[in-house]
Amino acid sequence: MKKIVLTGAAGRLGSYLREPLSKMCDELVSTDIKDDIGKTYDGETYVQGDLASMDDMVRVMDGAEMVVHMGAFVDEGPFEQLLGPNFVGSYNVWEAGYKAGVRRVVYASSIHAVGMYPKNEFIGVDVPHRPDTFYGLAKCFTEDLGRMYWEKRGMESVHMRILSCAQPNNARALGSYLSYDDLIQLVTRCLDTPVTGFSVIYGVSNNDRTPVDNAKASFLGYRPKDNAEDVAAEVLANEPQNDPQDAGHMCHGGPFASVALGNSGLAGMNVIQDAKETE
Ligand SMILES: NC(=O)c1ccc[n+]([C@@H]2O[C@H](COP(=O)([O-])OP(=O)(O)OC[C@H]3O[C@@H](n4cnc5c(N)ncnc54)[C@H](O)[C@@H]3O)[C@@H](O)[C@H]2O)c1
Repeated sequence: MKKIVLTGAAGRLGSYLREPLSKMCDELVSTDIKDDIGKTYDGETYVQGDLASMDDMVRVMDGAEMVVHMGAFVDEGPFEQLLGPNFVGSYNVWEAGYKAGVRRVVYASSIHAVGMYPKNEFIGVDVPHRPDTFYGLAKCFTEDLGRMYWEKRGMESVHMRILSCAQPNNARALGSYLSYDDLIQLVTRCLDTPVTGFSVIYGVSNNDRTPVDNAKASFLGYRPKDNAEDVAAEVLANEPQNDPQDAGHMCHGGPFASVALGNSGLAGMNVIQDAKETE
């Protein structure tokens, strides 16, 4: 591939994707709102830009074949805080990408697009949206945007509904864990599958307790290897008694399902910040 654009490149997940993506193309353009991204990999250039600015997105898309869109405000917050990066930003990525002739967008959607389903429903990739937050609503908006650009303009997109890409340190994560290696495999399959049309796939590892069904996305060839069960005994030994009436424990969205709209969901979670350093 000639050129790939990676948004959210300065973020935690972006930090693990930069090196493998730089090896899949002649030119990787990494972009983020942060001033600096540190040392770049061979074939990688960094362009600072705001997702909410159409001009910035037009600038990075020039000549791109595919986009891996990871940039976003990553938490629940007031609608106004999400409007620029998560709603307008998605429109700008698709519209600027379309004008530049981008063939496919691979998008970091989220379980929060369907977070209000109870966890004892083994949900597939085609259940109706059921967002748990404004954050999840932005993921629903972007999935619909991607479907519309496919149906009206023939621009492909794969929407990876990531569950929890972070070290598993609580009972929910025993089902929702996505390892960094499996994330890399997932993004690679989303890029190298010859034809995807508009597709949705759950981003989750091969956990014994995985609560979602990827059967209909099998053609993408994603076969995760890691399993959070390896740490289950340790995690469960430290887990407090959970209230079964709390949506935060009963629903796919976890703590996001129980917070009030506009309030942080991450505040109640202990996400380990282990972004990869550029060597
Ligand atoms: N981490 C998870 O478990 C998880 C789960 C589901 C979905 N996701 C999605 O994966 C993606 C990456 O998540 P992450 O955990 O790496 O988050 P992160 O916060 O570490 O990275 C997000 C990046 O987006 C950038 N960004 C924010 N606003 C921007 C703007 N206006 N313009 C340009 N860049 C902007 C931030 O600077 C940051 O570097 C996000 O889209 C997130 O919603 C993550």
